[in-house]
Amino acid sequence: MSSPRIQAPRGTHDVLPDDATRREAVEDVARRVLGAAGYRRIETPAFEATELFRRTVGESTDIVQKEMYTFEDAGGRSLTLRPEGTAPVCRAYLEHGMHKLPQPVKLWYLSSFFRYERAQAGRQRQFWQVGTEAIGSDDPALDAESIVLLAELLDALGVRDVRLRISSLGTPQTRAAYREELQAYLRAHEERLSEEVRARIDQNPLRAFDADHPGTREVMAGAPLLPDRLDGDDAEHFATVRALLDDAGLAYELDPTLVRGLDYYARTVFEFTSDALGAQSGVGGGGRYDGLIEQLGGPPTPAVGWAAGVERILLASAQQPVGQPAVTVFIGFRTDHAGSRALASRLAHEARRTGLAAQMELAGRSPKGQRKQADRLGARYVLFIDDLDVTLEDTESGEQTELAPDAVIPAILRGRQLS
Ligand code: HAM
Repeated sequence: MSSPRIQAPRGTHDVLPDDATRREAVEDVARRVLGAAGYRRIETPAFEATELFRRTVGESTDIVQKEMYTFEDAGGRSLTLRPEGTAPVCRAYLEHGMHKLPQPVKLWYLSSFFRYERAQAGRQRQFWQVGTEAIGSDDPALDAESIVLLAELLDALGVRDVRLRISSLGTPQTRAAYREELQAYLRAHEERLSEEVRARIDQNPLRAFDADHPGTREVMAGAPLLPDRLDGDDAEHFATVRALLDDAGLAYELDPTLVRGLDYYARTVFEFTSDALGAQSGVGGGGRYDGLIEQLGGPPTPAVGWAAGVERILLASAQQPVGQPAVTVFIGFRTDHAGSRALASRLAHEARRTGLAAQMELAGRSPKGQRKQADRLGARYVLFIDDLDVTLEDTESGEQTELAPDAVIPAILRGRQLS
């Protein structure tokens, strides 16, 4: 009786070779675009102390309440598979004394994250993000630079139909005062609101902005908006960010009701969506989190960053077919014995040492089958070993030459120089 098969857990997926090639393109573009702006790569552990996320992402968020993979290790510590990258990078900033480096410290990452969410297209339980964190400056130019870099990255990766929404949340105090004002406004118009919105006035008054219910929509058209309640410095900061985005020619929509699913934001917040995606249209988002490092026991340290989902980038970008990179040399056999096998291995190593991509026959095909395999791999040169003699075929010209084994690789290299 055969054993039952074991499948990958729900909400996870294997990255197969063609997909891996497309991901390498994301990594290459990220390194180029972010590297040119002074960002350097950082990677943090896949799990952290649970307290790190509780304190920063926020006790009342969906992430902390329902989505974390939390477990106790054999030593009795509560650990959590990272649901996001900002808190871990800030922990690392403090732990490694990066405040002593010239500020801001600009970091980027490309890592996998874990959230127990309802799995669907573009929403997994293990997913990848490319992200940046720029720590140690409250300059609005850093907010604008950060947003422009994400726009450039998405553009360079061919993400289609991108839209940017921005807002400002001000300080936690501004937000708390605004929340009370909005709650009072909703209570004053309670009889016109949908039952659902009414039930959530205490818990989540901002939800009322998303309602489809006609009465609620009418009420919300006259509701107070958070960006109108920003204090002088915050309002000026936001105005400068917007002016810099205008200067950069980046189109955006002001969305005074933009809320993010993490508690650590202050001042600027933004989100990029792609109309090429379905329900999960958020391709990347971020903002300023000036209070986070202090929450982790560090000195007051302003910072801004974003993260974009790699799977969503790939879903929203034009599908380019990816093939295997072409092999330059295919090595086959007319006679298959230990001596010719040893020679094939030696020639394959020699070719690779000189930088040529080389593969040898490994499946016991007939000479005709080997020739076909060489074509499938797109080989430019085919070597056939007959005993210890070697025939070199140039597949472009069809020319065949018999050569001494030691002369073969130099002949290919010479041929490549000439072509
Ligand atoms: P976030 O908005 O929670 O922000 O996630 C950023 C991006 O990750 C989303 O826009 C989406 O593309 C992708 N993403 C999130 N959850 C999933 C999922 N379950 N499946 C697939 N993709 C997903 C953050 O994580 C913040 N740490 C961003 C940030 C950095 N803010 C400041 N610095």
